[in-house]
Amino acid sequence: MSVYQLFIFSIRYTKTFREKFDSLGVMDSELSQQIAKRRTFAIISHPDAGKTTLTEKLLLYSGKIRTAGVVRGRKGRKFATSDWMALEQERGISITASAMQFVYKDVVINILDTPGHEDFSEDTYRTLTAADCAIMVLDAAKGVEKQTRKLFEVCQLKKIPVLTFINKMDMPGRDPLDLMDEVENVLNIQAFAYNWPIGSGKQFAGVYDRTKDICQFFTRASIGGSECAPMEEKSFQEDEIARLIGNDDLKKLKNELDLLKEAGNLFNKEDFLSGKVTPVFFASALSNYGIEPFFDAFIHLAPPPGKRLADGDNKEEIVIDPLETPFSAYVFKIQSNMDRNHRDSLAFLRICSGAFEKDMTVKHHRLKKTIRLARPQSMFAGERVTLSEAVAGDIIGVINPGVFFIGDTVSITGGFNFKPLPQFQPEIFARIISKDVGKRKSFDKGIKQLAEEGAIQILQTQNEFDQWIYGAVGKLQFEVIQYRLKDEYQTDTEITFLPYQCSAWIIGDISTYQKPFNSILVQDNTGKYMGLFNSPWEKNHAIQQNPKLEFKDIKY
Ligand code: G4P
Repeated sequence: MSVYQLFIFSIRYTKTFREKFDSLGVMDSELSQQIAKRRTFAIISHPDAGKTTLTEKLLLYSGKIRTAGVVRGRKGRKFATSDWMALEQERGISITASAMQFVYKDVVINILDTPGHEDFSEDTYRTLTAADCAIMVLDAAKGVEKQTRKLFEVCQLKKIPVLTFINKMDMPGRDPLDLMDEVENVLNIQAFAYNWPIGSGKQFAGVYDRTKDICQFFTRASIGGSECAPMEEKSFQEDEIARLIGNDDLKKLKNELDLLKEAGNLFNKEDFLSGKVTPVFFASALSNYGIEPFFDAFIHLAPPPGKRLADGDNKEEIVIDPLETPFSAYVFKIQSNMDRNHRDSLAFLRICSGAFEKDMTVKHHRLKKTIRLARPQSMFAGERVTLSEAVAGDIIGVINPGVFFIGDTVSITGGFNFKPLPQFQPEIFARIISKDVGKRKSFDKGIKQLAEEGAIQILQTQNEFDQWIYGAVGKLQFEVIQYRLKDEYQTDTEITFLPYQCSAWIIGDISTYQKPFNSILVQDNTGKYMGLFNSPWEKNHAIQQNPKLEFKDIKY
């Protein structure tokens, strides 16, 4: 039995294993080694840039899957392992963020798959809070696209370090120097070319690693990259490169490398970790060219779980240390009906400190209760694996019998709360009714669970005959709600969209509120008041008419 197994075995029999293992002197070194091995990250990109393909290649290279279902998606072909929800598969977009764990070269990878579609930005935002770093995937032909920019801004806001992966180098794309320029100018971050493409399009042969001064060439092992592409590392030999990409492209390559040497940014890890610089990698996720060097650099560059700030009971800021603080975690996602066999709700927790053991009892800070974290699960593309232990950096799913809300903190010690997760103002509003009156019960249950997930906001009007309005950030969310109500709760629904275009939470003495004529006042599920407006102009008017009230677009 290894020391780690011994450690895990023993913690099952302890109440607070820190107490026990402190005396043995085993825990800190074992736990710190385990935490140091964790890399928890999210992939951000505009739809179609290649996030799903890259995720799948991580699984392929880690040995978790033997062949990649490369041509996944819309037309009834194989699906990517991370796209488990039927609607995702049907539409070929990533709707829900799934969390997966696997080992790549002795490093434990926790990957949080984020929805790329902008209608799910709130879900993505919350998921990014659970990540320690992000990979930004760009399409070499398209550069920095709208959704990438938005997600990148969130990473900057949260000070999450970002690695840039320029994908589809096997296709005709834009000039690599242009792409570097665009990353710097549009995203306002320094870009460091960690490697540089040797050829592009049909002639993309590999990459030159500027940090190691070595060329990495690839050969195609399978059609469509379903198997790993063998890599050969060689010194920079002009003859060989000319043979692969021709004399003109060799000349261009040499010029570009000279230019980068003279005028390019320098790289140091601290600047990357503080979000000042992004290392840039060129590759083709589809053909697997450049994949292995990228993953190798990734596990070396990406940070292990770090310290997090929380609000103490007296509102003082306290630091949660992954090793020093006993087990603590927060809920960043709730998901119901993840598969047909388990029709229940799972709360996903990001462990921020310490170690977790199955059936552990913890303090639920909001409810001020002690609860048992029963049947913890780790997810692999919709398949559940029961976990017996996990450490800081890991994501666990626990059955949620209605006790968890997004943002809830649990811990051994109590006395603090992780920073609240923001809720965005809804911009699309509708009434939803069950077509079949007899299905009212399952309709109510479905709506309630979907609201718990944060997929939709239930708003209560002052009108007792027509009580409920539903709000979401994007229209696609309503389509998903309708689909899921039918698929998971067997309820056909009718949606009537309402004319309101924007909203704001209204804070202060609501009895003084002077409401614009056509707008309405509603209450959200926490009882907070919200104004729904027909236009941004009307909202501004309300703000001006009510100087003593605060109008908020984001609720914490
Ligand atoms: P996403 O999750 O970011 O939305 O992108 P996804 O991985 O689904 O990739 C979008 C499309 O781009 C996919 O094609 C995928 O095969 C293709 N793709 C991904 N990486 C590369 C790459 O490195 N090179 C090339 N040439 N294509 C790449 P699709 O939508 O399934 O269409 P199809 O090609 O199967 O018809």
